[in-house]
Amino acid sequence: MPQYLILITPAANRVFAGQAAGLTATELEICAGTDRAAVSGVQSLAGVDYVGFETSDFAAIARSVAGLSSAYALFEQVGELLRPVELVNSDRFSDDLVTIPKYQGKTNEQFTRMLVNVTAASMSRSPTGPITLLDPLAGRGTTLSVGLTLGYDVAGVESEVKAVEAYAAFLKTYLRRKRLKHKAGIDPVRREGRSLGRRLQVEVTPEAGGRPQQLTVFTGDTRQSAALFGKRRFDLVVADAPYGVVHGSSAPGRRDRSPAALLADALPVWAGQLKPGGALGISWNTYGLTREELAAIATTAGLEPLDDGPYLRLGHRVDSAIYRDVFIARRS
Ligand SMILES: C[S@@+](CC[C@H](N)C(=O)[O-])C[C@H]1O[C@@H](n2cnc3c(N)ncnc32)[C@H](O)[C@@H]1O
Repeated sequence: MPQYLILITPAANRVFAGQAAGLTATELEICAGTDRAAVSGVQSLAGVDYVGFETSDFAAIARSVAGLSSAYALFEQVGELLRPVELVNSDRFSDDLVTIPKYQGKTNEQFTRMLVNVTAASMSRSPTGPITLLDPLAGRGTTLSVGLTLGYDVAGVESEVKAVEAYAAFLKTYLRRKRLKHKAGIDPVRREGRSLGRRLQVEVTPEAGGRPQQLTVFTGDTRQSAALFGKRRFDLVVADAPYGVVHGSSAPGRRDRSPAALLADALPVWAGQLKPGGALGISWNTYGLTREELAAIATTAGLEPLDDGPYLRLGHRVDSAIYRDVFIARRS
C-alpha cells in the first residue's frame, strides 16, 4: 500500500508545546477515518518528525489531509526517496482572515482549526446544504472565521459586547480591503419591547468565489442561545470554554473561575440547538473540570460522548495553569 509522510508546519510545535506531530496524527485518524487510512504515527527521518500513514485511495482523503490544522507538505515514500505530493487547498478565504487579529484571550488559530476539523468529522449526518456552525462562546470570532474559511455558514453568542464590536470592526475593514462583495451591520435587537442586546450580521462572497456565506453573532448570555436563535438548528456546535485564567465565565452578577457551572447550564441549551447527527466539540482546561464530569453533563443533556480511541489523545499542555483537552459528542 502506498505510504505517505506529512511534514508539520514548524510553528505548530510552539502552539502545541512540542506535541504537534502526535496531535496531527490523531487529527488525521479522526478526519480521514481508520477505514480509509492507516495512521502509523510520528516518524523521524534525518532528525525531522513526520506523520506517517498508508492508504490505497489517497484521492478519497486528499481533502482531509490538505485541511489538517498543521500540514505543511506531503510526500509519498518511494524506496529511500520522498516524492512531493501537492496539498490542494480548498479554503474559501486566505488564512489572514484568521491570523491577522491579535488579542489577549484569542484561541490559537491552528488549535481552533483542529477543533473544528475533528468536530466536523464526527457528525453522523451528511448535510445536503451548507454546513452550519454555532460558537456559543464566540469571543472575537476565531472559530467563526475558521468556519467561514471552510465554507460554512456561522453563528455565535458572546457576552462581552466589546469583543463583538471589535470582531465587527475587523471584519468590515478586512472585507473592504480585500474588495470582497459583502453586507455587514451591527444592530440593536428588541423583542416584545425589551432590548436583547445587539446582532452582527454579515453576508460575504468568499475570496475563492461561490455562494455568499452568512455570519450572525448575538451579544448576550450563552444560556439564552436557544432563545436568541429560535428554531434555527446547527450541524456543529464548537466552543473554546473559558480557561479561568484570562476569561471568567460570566453569569449576571458573578464571575466564576471554573467553567463547570457555565457548562452544566449551557450544554443542555447547546445540545438542543444541534440537528440530529450533528456534533459538539468543546475545548477546556482539565484543571477546572474532569473529562468524566464533562461527559456526565453531556450525557444528561442527551448527547452521546465520543470517548474512545483517538478522541482520548487530543489533550496537551498549554502552560503550567492549563492542560487543554478536546471533548466531542454527537446528537443521535
Ligand atoms: C476562551 S474564550 C473564547 C475565545 C474565542 N475562541 C476567540 O478566539 O476569540 C471564551 C469566551 O466565552 C465568553 N463567555 C464566558 N461566559 C459567557 C456567557 N455566559 N455567555 C456568553 N459568553 C461567555 C468570554 O467572554 C470569552 O470571550
